[in-house]
Amino acid sequence: MNLLVIGSGGREHAMVRKLAGDAPSASVYCAPGNPGTAQYGTNVPIPATDVTALARFAAAEAIDLTVVGPEQPLAAGLVDEFESHGLAIFGPSASAARLESSKAFSKRLMEECGVATAAFRIFENPAAARAFAAGMEPPLVVKASGLAGGKGAVVCGDHREAEKAIGDLMERATLGEAGAEVVIEEFMEGEELSVFFLTDGSEAAALAPARDHKRRFAGDTGPNTGGMGAYSPVRGADAALIERIRREIAEPVLARLAEQGSPYRGFLYAGVMLTAEGPKVVEFNCRLGDPEAQVVLPLMEDGLLDPLLAVGRGARLGGWRPASPSKAALTTVVVQGAYPASVHSGLRIDLPADLETPDLHVYHAGTAHAGGQLVTAGGRVFGVTGIADDLATAAARSRAGAARIQFDGADWRPDIGHSETR
Ligand code: AMP
Ligand code: GLY
Repeated sequence: MNLLVIGSGGREHAMVRKLAGDAPSASVYCAPGNPGTAQYGTNVPIPATDVTALARFAAAEAIDLTVVGPEQPLAAGLVDEFESHGLAIFGPSASAARLESSKAFSKRLMEECGVATAAFRIFENPAAARAFAAGMEPPLVVKASGLAGGKGAVVCGDHREAEKAIGDLMERATLGEAGAEVVIEEFMEGEELSVFFLTDGSEAAALAPARDHKRRFAGDTGPNTGGMGAYSPVRGADAALIERIRREIAEPVLARLAEQGSPYRGFLYAGVMLTAEGPKVVEFNCRLGDPEAQVVLPLMEDGLLDPLLAVGRGARLGGWRPASPSKAALTTVVVQGAYPASVHSGLRIDLPADLETPDLHVYHAGTAHAGGQLVTAGGRVFGVTGIADDLATAAARSRAGAARIQFDGADWRPDIGHSETR
């Protein structure tokens, strides 16, 4: 069997590792991959958004299934391109992926099918956006509608901040086209939860939920990042809550997309706020979370390949449901220097050879090989996942592992999972 994973981050390293474990005799390719994915398979130097070259490669190498990691290739129509050539692929079409690539689309769809989310209005005109924001009680949230790599949402504590966010997005185009349309919404109070479904477009099977820490510094302070760490299980996120989120959030949205002629096949990630009035959607993503995948996939006791193959070939899940994991996992992201501000690439990394064990996984994110040496190649450099019977032990393993990785400016949050392990 030949498998291809698209992407080059820690999430894709976790996917490649899981699939290689499920099918030890398979050839696993990763495009473009990273030094971590190369440990389990073959990296292919094709950019994740070069849809034509990827489809050509998959056809030439007789790839049996392609699995897409990040959102950009999905929004760029990778799945549509593969399907037009009869190539099996797991992920939503560009039209279904609008759930993530257009917040305006996603919010309207939730409104149409009565899914709980923050009250909102959509604007393409900055003056109208300003007038609306001025009449709202702060805090309020101003969001770019398009893809912005985690930088598109601004939580505004007062009207001046909202005014600046609207000007930045809509007039100064700080995020380019992504901010031409904005969503302005009410601020929701509560704890966030990342809930993942594997869906064939009608049935949705829940994977283990996780929580990530987006703020850069300890105590959940500082700027938002792509994620500084994650853990699973999450206190309070029991089977009854996940079932409620499946029934009240995932199913209506999937049914509506199917009715519209854009059935959603792939991973559906619901970012949910657990408010006093119940779970409400913060956003949908059309993929697994990063770094959440680095805890959800290592904990998964069932194989992942069979359901991905079934859905990737256009078949049904047929009642597949993964067992609830018996262990706990926590990942600490090791970043470089000023991340999320600009970072240095090409710095030599000292990665102890004995670090990786069955209970400590080292997921590469921003690394590269240069001159026979492992070097930094991005802000988030590694995700170090500890696995144990309980979260406190998993946390201790993860932190001890992170402390052993060295490069110039290596830094990590020592408090991932703090509210659970106090
Ligand atoms: P998003 O890009 O929509 O996921 O937003 C990024 C982050 O901003 C979320 O993970 C939340 O922490 C925060 N956020 C976004 N929307 C809201 C909201 N309506 N209320 C409170 N926090 C929000
Ligand atoms: N960890 C948040 C995300 O993947 O969007």
